[in-house]
Amino acid sequence: MNLVLVSLCLLTLQSAKGSKQQTQNYWVLKPNVIVVDVNLAQAISKVDVPLRCGDAYGDEDVVWSNNGEQVGQGNQIVVTVEEMLGGNYSCHSHAGSFLNHTLVLVQGTERRILEKSHDTDYIQCSSRNYSGAFQCSWKWSRSRNGDVVLVRATRSSATSNITCSLDKGGLSITCQDRTHCPYAEETERINLTLYVKNRYRVEEYSQRFYITEIVKPDKIKITKVDKSTFEWGYPETWSSPNSYFPLTFQVKVIPRKKNCECESGCQRNKRVELHTTESCRWTVREGFVFCVRAQDALCNSTWSDWSQYKKRRSMGKKIHSKQNKARKPSTARE
Ligand SMILES: *[C@@H]1O[C@H](CO)[C@@H](O)[C@H](O)[C@H]1NC(C)=O
Ligand SMILES: *[C@@H]1O[C@H](CO)[C@@H](O)[C@H](O)[C@H]1NC(C)=O
Ligand SMILES: *[C@@H]1O[C@H](CO)[C@@H](O)[C@H](O)[C@H]1NC(C)=O
Ligand SMILES: *[C@@H]1O[C@H](CO)[C@@H](O)[C@H](O)[C@H]1NC(C)=O
Ligand SMILES: *[C@@H]1O[C@H](CO)[C@@H](O)[C@H](O)[C@H]1NC(C)=O
Ligand SMILES: *[C@@H]1O[C@H](CO)[C@@H](O)[C@H](O)[C@H]1NC(C)=O
Repeated sequence: MNLVLVSLCLLTLQSAKGSKQQTQNYWVLKPNVIVVDVNLAQAISKVDVPLRCGDAYGDEDVVWSNNGEQVGQGNQIVVTVEEMLGGNYSCHSHAGSFLNHTLVLVQGTERRILEKSHDTDYIQCSSRNYSGAFQCSWKWSRSRNGDVVLVRATRSSATSNITCSLDKGGLSITCQDRTHCPYAEETERINLTLYVKNRYRVEEYSQRFYITEIVKPDKIKITKVDKSTFEWGYPETWSSPNSYFPLTFQVKVIPRKKNCECESGCQRNKRVELHTTESCRWTVREGFVFCVRAQDALCNSTWSDWSQYKKRRSMGKKIHSKQNKARKPSTARE
C-alpha cells in the first residue's frame, strides 16, 4: 500500500511531457531504489522518472550524475529510462561532495537472473521443524550472477512479523516468523518475495507456502547397530515433544555399491521394498546397505535425506525382517 502511495506522489510531481508514456510505470521498492516497469512488447520502453536529492538540500547547487556523467541540475530532475537501461544516479553539492543517490532499476517481463532448480521452482524453501524458522535458497543463472535487493515475507494478517537475513555466500536466506505458534494450525500462507538484480535489471520471484508444506526433518542418525538390527532417534532439530510431532520412517535395504538415493535402478530385475514404520528400530537381512529417512507422520511433507549404513561383512544367513510397532525411547522420554 505504501508503495502505491509513494509512486502516486512521484507521479503527481512529474510534469506532463507530451508523447511519452504517462501511466504509472515506476514505483519505490525501498528507500533510494526505484523500479521502472518496462514492457518491450507493448512499446512502453521510455519512461520518465523524477528523482529527488532531498528536502534538506537547496535547489540551485545540486548536480546529478550517472556513471560519471553529469545528467542534470537542481534538487529534482526527471530522467528518461529507456528499455532495459537503468542507472545509479547520485546528487552532489556544487563543490562536489556526495549528498544522496537513487538506484533506478528496470523490470522486464522475462526471468533471466535465477534458474529453476530441479526444473521445479526458482526458490526452494524448507524448515527443519515447526519453530517458525525456515530457509530459502536459489540458483543464479549461469550467465548472470545477481544480488539480492530486498526480501519480503509476510502472512496476510497484519500481526505477522517475519524477518529474513541473507546467508553467507548470498545464495540463501534464513527467516524467522516470530509470531508462529508450533502448536496451532496455520491459517495463512507465508508469501515470500525475493527481488534480485543483475546490473540495473531487477526481477521479482515469489513463493507461497505453509510451514507444514516445507517442513523437512534433518537426516536421521543411526544410533545403534546390533547384528542385523538398527536403531535410530529423532533428529535433534525436530520439534518436541515427539508425541505431538511424530515422525514416520521409511526403510529399505539395497545392494552393496548402491546409494540410498537410487529410486528405481537400485536392483536389477527386482523392486526394492520400501517399508514404512513409526518405530525407531528395524531388523534386516545380510549383505546390504541399510537406508532410513523420516517424514512428519501427520502431513505429507518432504522426506528427510536418506541416512545410510553400509555393512562390511555378512552376518549370519537367516533372513529376518520385522516391523516393531511399539513406541521407542524417544517418545518414552516425555
Ligand atoms: C535521500 O533520498 C532518499 C530517497 O529518495 C530519501 O528518502 C532521503 O530522505 C534522502 N536523504 C536526505 C538527507 O534528504
Ligand atoms: C549506487 O551509488 C551509491 C552512492 O555512490 C553507492 O553507495 C551504491 O553502492 C551504488 N549502488 C550500486 C548498486 O551500484
Ligand atoms: C518483529 O520482531 C522483532 C524482534 O522481536 C522486533 O524487534 C520488531 O520490532 C518486530 N516488528 C514488528 C513490526 O512487530
Ligand atoms: C506476495 O507479495 C508480493 C510482494 O509483496 C505481492 O506482489 C504479491 O501480490 C503477494 N502475493 C499474494 C498472493 O499475496
Ligand atoms: C528448528 O530449526 C531451526 C533451523 O531451521 C534451528 O535453528 C532450531 O534450533 C530448531 N529448533 C530446535 C528445537 O532444534
Ligand atoms: C504425498 O506427496 C507425494 C508427492 O507430492 C505424492 O506423490 C503422494 O501421492 C502423496 N501421498 C499422499 C498419501 O497424499
